[in-house]
Amino acid sequence: MDVDLWSDVEATYRERTPRSRELYGETAEHVPAAVGSTFREWTPHPLYIDRAEGVHLQDVDGNRYLDFGMNNGAGMSGHAHPALVEAIQDQAEQGTLYTKPSELLVEAAEAITERWDAVDTVRFTNSGTESTMHAIRVARAHSGRDKILKIEGSYHGVHDYALISKSAPREKLGHPKRPTKVVESDGVPSRSRFGRSVRSSSSRS
Ligand SMILES: Cc1ncc(COP(=O)(O)O)c(C=O)c1O
Repeated sequence: MDVDLWSDVEATYRERTPRSRELYGETAEHVPAAVGSTFREWTPHPLYIDRAEGVHLQDVDGNRYLDFGMNNGAGMSGHAHPALVEAIQDQAEQGTLYTKPSELLVEAAEAITERWDAVDTVRFTNSGTESTMHAIRVARAHSGRDKILKIEGSYHGVHDYALISKSAPREKLGHPKRPTKVVESDGVPSRSRFGRSVRSSSSRS
């Protein structure tokens, strides 16, 4: 996109989202980068969402959007599906966090294992970060090998093994046949037994 066109888009965005702008400032005083995960940062400010229903998101300025993201694929039922809302309301009355297993565990796991032959058992997680972290550990335990393959330019969460070469500048990526590992956040070790990595200049998680 050429620079003038981008300036127009940004000007329109600012004009339509004044309350998001305000919330961005207020949130930044209490929350790092003013977002729940740094990968939700957006220039000049993110949209702050007020509500969502079906395939639509509505921001705090009343703008409606078609949601092509759908929780990065995890929101396959759409937002606020009536059956899910009812189930969540029912459960909320019985408490939501027991720090002990409940009958719901087998009920939910069985629904998945019955649907997919390849899935024998299920470990539920709260985020993609936890899922990929566990998946790497299980794969290493099973294979007895330590090295993992991480695709350049893909996002797999914010733990140390995933925060490598996600959105690094091209000039840091090295030769296609011998890629350099680019560490994407301060705090992620740049040395490991698998060799040295370089740091991305925008080093935050
Ligand atoms: C394939 C994949 N792995 C991992 C993640 C990380 O998820 P989270 O940001 O919830 O930790 C995502 C999130 O979009 C993802 O799409």
